[in-house]
Amino acid sequence: MSGEPVKITVLGAGHVGPVIARVAIEAGYEVSIAASGDPEKIALITGVLAPGAAPQWAADAVRGADLVVLAIPLHRFAAFDPALVAGRLVVDTMNYWPPVDGVQPMFEDRRYGSSEIVARRLAGATVVKTFNHLGYHELDADRRPPGAPDRRALGVAGDDADAVARVAAVIERIGYDAVRLAGLRSGRLLGPGGPVFGAALGRADFEQAVRTAEAA
Ligand SMILES: NC(=O)c1ccc[n+]([C@@H]2O[C@H](COP(=O)([O-])OP(=O)(O)OC[C@H]3O[C@@H](n4cnc5c(N)ncnc54)[C@H](OP(=O)(O)O)[C@@H]3O)[C@@H](O)[C@H]2O)c1
Repeated sequence: MSGEPVKITVLGAGHVGPVIARVAIEAGYEVSIAASGDPEKIALITGVLAPGAAPQWAADAVRGADLVVLAIPLHRFAAFDPALVAGRLVVDTMNYWPPVDGVQPMFEDRRYGSSEIVARRLAGATVVKTFNHLGYHELDADRRPPGAPDRRALGVAGDDADAVARVAAVIERIGYDAVRLAGLRSGRLLGPGGPVFGAALGRADFEQAVRTAEAA
């Protein structure tokens, strides 16, 4: 894996998946999108919400992808086949939220953040967490060009510096300032209950919030 991603695959065609697909297309990426089954079932909705994104079977969509965005509910993750994304750069957008997901035993070990648990299960992939801490409607509306005074920051957490850099480049190109966290372990700061979850912050305030929490 080298260079900035050009082909992005989004797995999940619910609330957040098509919006990620749309903003990626508008940033100039080639995008395919898949749900859990027949692409015919998502062709209409993706045609409306993410025109230009190619609906495919997941296996076909992942083949040749430089970056795979995992945008499925966490309660569906236990049934997700790790072999599908082996060797890939995977962006984890998922949050563990028991009121929504139900109690998921796999994610109940509080020594680890949800993305660390995802990464351990997807051991053949490189996992980077981002996109999880803003609402899908905001992801579209809050994009701004570089240097805009109200440009919002998104956190990017991962243990592979090269993978983090490539995901950060995508975030910046889509329309956000990318703030690198100390590692995937710090990804928990991006999740529900963390200092930046749901908070619309510019780079300076975002960095201060995560650095303070990382140091605590
Ligand atoms: N909603 C938000 O504003 C928001 C913001 C940031 C992050 N997130 C995170 O994004 C994730 C998705 O949230 P959502 O609200 O978009 O969920 P959602 O509306 O329930 O969407 C679920 C989608 O995931 C697909 N899916 C399930 N298992 C799959 C698999 N193995 N392979 C491919 N696709 C699969 C479903 O396809 P089928 O219909 O074929 O099963 C469906 O298209 C969650 O983890 C959430 O925490 C959500």
